[in-house]
Amino acid sequence: MARRKQIYEGKAKILFEGPEPGTIIQYFKDDATAFNNQKHAILEGKGVLNNRISEFVMTGLERIGVPTHFIKRLNMREQLVRHVEIVPLEVVVRNVAAGSLSKRLGLEDGTALPRSIIEFYYKDDKLGDPLVAEEHITAFSWANPQEIDDMMALALRINDFLSGLFAGVGIKLVDFKVEFGRQYDGDLMRLIVADEISPDSCRLWDMETGDIMDKDRFRKDLGNVTDAYREVAKRLGVLRENGGAGQKGPVLVSDNE
Ligand code: TMP
Ligand code: ASP
Repeated sequence: MARRKQIYEGKAKILFEGPEPGTIIQYFKDDATAFNNQKHAILEGKGVLNNRISEFVMTGLERIGVPTHFIKRLNMREQLVRHVEIVPLEVVVRNVAAGSLSKRLGLEDGTALPRSIIEFYYKDDKLGDPLVAEEHITAFSWANPQEIDDMMALALRINDFLSGLFAGVGIKLVDFKVEFGRQYDGDLMRLIVADEISPDSCRLWDMETGDIMDKDRFRKDLGNVTDAYREVAKRLGVLRENGGAGQKGPVLVSDNE
């Protein structure tokens, strides 16, 4: 990590200047935070798992034509990504009531929603990422109407892709959050998926047992957080059983580390 210019340090990741203009190195930390940083812990191995899971998901999205910032994974904790201007919104797609939606509307967790619901939250830690309407987004120029349309269309495609991906391995995608970035190519600008898609940013329930396999294990003090992430990775085929020397249990499939 030495001798590289750090651009930004967030709660779960650090961004460094990339080797070429227009690139960034995204480093996955083991830090877990919840409730706007009020709760913090180091979950050993979480960063390694999220790096691999996010790589797997982003690669799958690229394959179906959803553009992402992902270029390649560099090592256990780092990936090379495209430099983007982050749209200051968290785009949440929900299929089943949980979390803040259940609380806000008095729904029971697990209630199937009549259709997938898209929400926007303004990215501002000081304000606790408040829920905002399209009116606020356009009035304050966080995104223009065309960008809102594009983000909604992309979010629904991501939802379809992720729902199928996880259903195939016995996991229900309850909801998830994505972030988008603007990538400039001369006069052209396009929106691409940025940040990460991992159990930190999704709600994932085991289809048979209902077990929680995401960051809610940390938020709700359920324990075994990284075990659950590891199980997600294993089911997606990102881990193989009984790998390298001295390893107990599943290890990371490795090609260049
Ligand atoms: P919520 O129910 O707490 O609003 O969360 C909705 C989804 O967004 C859930 O999958 C967790 C994810 N999320 C984040 O990735 N980052 C956040 O800061 C929050 C609050 C939620
Ligand atoms: N990531 C946010 C935080 O650290 C909130 C959350 O995911 O619950 O505070």
